[in-house]
Amino acid sequence: MTAHENAVQRISIVGTGYVGLSTAVCFASRGYDVIASTRSEDKVHSINAKRAPFHEPGLDEAVRTSIESGHLRAEISRSEAVRQTEVTFLTVGTPERADGTIDLRYVISASEDIGRALKRKNAYHLVVVKSTVTPGTVRGPVKVALEEASGLVAGSDFGLCTNPEFLRQGSAIRDTLHPDRVIIGEYDTRSGQQLANLFEGFYDPAIPILTMSLESAEMVKYASNTFLAMKISYANEMARICEGVPGVDVSKVMAGVGLDERINPRFLNAGAGFGGSCLPKDTKALCKFAEEQGYSAPLLRATLAVNKAQAFHVAQLALSTLGEPRDKKVALLGLAFKPDTDDLREAQSLTVARTLLKAGAHVSAFDPVVKQVSLPGFEELDYPPSTSACLAGAHCCIILTEWEQFKRLTPDDFIQFMATPAVVDARRIFDPHEFGNRLTFLAVGVGRELDVCRTSVRDNEE
Ligand code: UDX
Repeated sequence: MTAHENAVQRISIVGTGYVGLSTAVCFASRGYDVIASTRSEDKVHSINAKRAPFHEPGLDEAVRTSIESGHLRAEISRSEAVRQTEVTFLTVGTPERADGTIDLRYVISASEDIGRALKRKNAYHLVVVKSTVTPGTVRGPVKVALEEASGLVAGSDFGLCTNPEFLRQGSAIRDTLHPDRVIIGEYDTRSGQQLANLFEGFYDPAIPILTMSLESAEMVKYASNTFLAMKISYANEMARICEGVPGVDVSKVMAGVGLDERINPRFLNAGAGFGGSCLPKDTKALCKFAEEQGYSAPLLRATLAVNKAQAFHVAQLALSTLGEPRDKKVALLGLAFKPDTDDLREAQSLTVARTLLKAGAHVSAFDPVVKQVSLPGFEELDYPPSTSACLAGAHCCIILTEWEQFKRLTPDDFIQFMATPAVVDARRIFDPHEFGNRLTFLAVGVGRELDVCRTSVRDNEE
């Protein structure tokens, strides 16, 4: 390996979604020279004008400082981006096809573009696939596209790695800078070593870096996301059981369960279920992938089935408070699939809204960031400009996203504005005792009589 390879300084990122842009600003913030390449002129314009092209806490500020420091610029041309740098991270999306399988079209066309650029570059270059792809994709179609377009050979003329990303929307920058672990899938030792060298200069030395085969690294991403999805569906299944048992509250149960170090308390929050751009898509894609190999993946199927049922269940809880739903108004607080994002992809709120509209209810929705749903089937949804306007005259309210501002609402806020104060807490942000004593209150995972055994240390001391 040459000294030059040890000291990568110029990095290009192809794709400027959550992963691409977070990676770009984080490298730029640590003094690397970064070119972020996107096909969208609007995004190029926005980034170069120092604005993040989508809502993500801290991203606007990070884009601004990166551009002002001269360490980041956005560029349409992928070939320029590759030509002027030593390493390229490929971060384009891998959406889901109608049958649940992964759509590799953007990954392949980006690989072809990178390959064409490598043909003209005439120097060793490292290509790192960050996009989520099923095992075998990088060694298969990605390598083929790169080699055919460049006329070069992977492993000798250019390096090839995969490096799955585990960031969460809403904390994308923090997660990019401080991951629990870094996974490198290497095509050959030289590629893996070059990426490890880059990361050793970038991450805190306490962060473990694991190197493995391309396929194992691709699989780590799916195995992690589906495990998280399974934890949530497990909590939601427990919630359904708890609801039938007076005196039980699933959040107390999961607090008790999560203290077992073998389990840990995270991703055990029962609620409306999981949405977003990764957990649903990756679970479906791994299911399909397993099926193609002749294995039906019953655990993954159950994870998806419980999640789907949970959104209908939340809508059902609301309908149970309404009697005849026609001419009744339901207020939805929250639309985004989680707080601190404007992303509606696979949001459980959409299934809840659709079910209520189908039942004949009037549905109003307020979200601090998502201003409307521009998808077919939601034309009748109403978008009042504030929480109070959304609650005004409503017969039931459902909490669908746990935004901080909703957590501050009190029973009086609902009593004051609603026609009949009934609340379905599908994200467990309210105290069931406090709310249950003042209004009709149904919460995911709370048995009909409230949990009267007070178990926390603090409660025992009182
Ligand atoms: C997820 C993974 O966490 C991340 O590692 C991966 O890189 C991308 O996919 P993200 O989709 O941004 O991240 O959000 P996440 O925080 O995982 O939440 C996903 C969904 O699960 C949300 O709808 C959230 O409301 C729900 N969720 C999460 C629960 O219902 N209960 C929980 O306990 C945790």
